[in-house]
Amino acid sequence: MSDDLRDLLPRIDSYIEELFSPPDPALEGALRRSREEGLPGITVSPNEGKLLQLLAEIAGARRILEIGTLGGYSTIYLARALPEDGSLLSLELDERHAEVARENIAEAGLEDRVEVRIGDARELLAALVEEGVEPFDLTFIDADKGGYPEYLEWALRLSRTGSLVLADNAIRGGNVLEPADESVRATREFNESLARNPRLSALVLPLIREGIDGIAIARVLVD
Ligand code: SAH
Ligand code: DHB
Ligand code: MG
Repeated sequence: MSDDLRDLLPRIDSYIEELFSPPDPALEGALRRSREEGLPGITVSPNEGKLLQLLAEIAGARRILEIGTLGGYSTIYLARALPEDGSLLSLELDERHAEVARENIAEAGLEDRVEVRIGDARELLAALVEEGVEPFDLTFIDADKGGYPEYLEWALRLSRTGSLVLADNAIRGGNVLEPADESVRATREFNESLARNPRLSALVLPLIREGIDGIAIARVLVD
């Protein structure tokens, strides 16, 4: 990347963020509490959060599934798209992350719509299928990157025609171009599954981050 572009991309991202992300005590509080509690700083960016919210709004999502809660930062964006009687279920392996998330979600006034469930997403997803829950209108995948191919299969089993499946970290700083480890290979496999699945209409969008990453967006075409 030229030095010009390296400098310009974060400035463009900040320009968009300043325009579309006015001061927001709930989101800022969630970031502060997450930092104070020692959670890793690996949330979606404000612009990506806003994109998640917008996609959920456009989809008219009433039932949202999130895989990988951390401190509930992306959860707050997604839950804000829900109607009053909508619901979001977020799956999180780490008990402490889930605790911080519950507090952040309550401070954002969204506790009536959001459930954070603790456990390995693989087991929790299998249990949801087993229970025969109603399909989700939107699933956001953002947990361990090696699990993405499996999470996609579960997400599709929990979807209906028209459901959206979104995934963070689809570009991995550009490493998907030449994967050097299993985790990035899984991301590449995930993207390829989206591209070749005839049940899906999909795309990966690059996003400016610290460096660059991307979001995968897929719509389920047929049951
Ligand atoms: N979506 C969050 C960031 C998630 S970071 C946001 O943008 O705000 C990834 C999270 O996935 C971490 O909290 C991690 O503990 C969780 N995770 C990792 N492996 C998991 C698994 N097997 N099942 C459920 N959650 C998992
Ligand atoms: C990591 C995970 C994420 O979801 C992310 O957006 C960035 C980094 C990580 O595990 O390092
Ligand atoms: Mg992520």
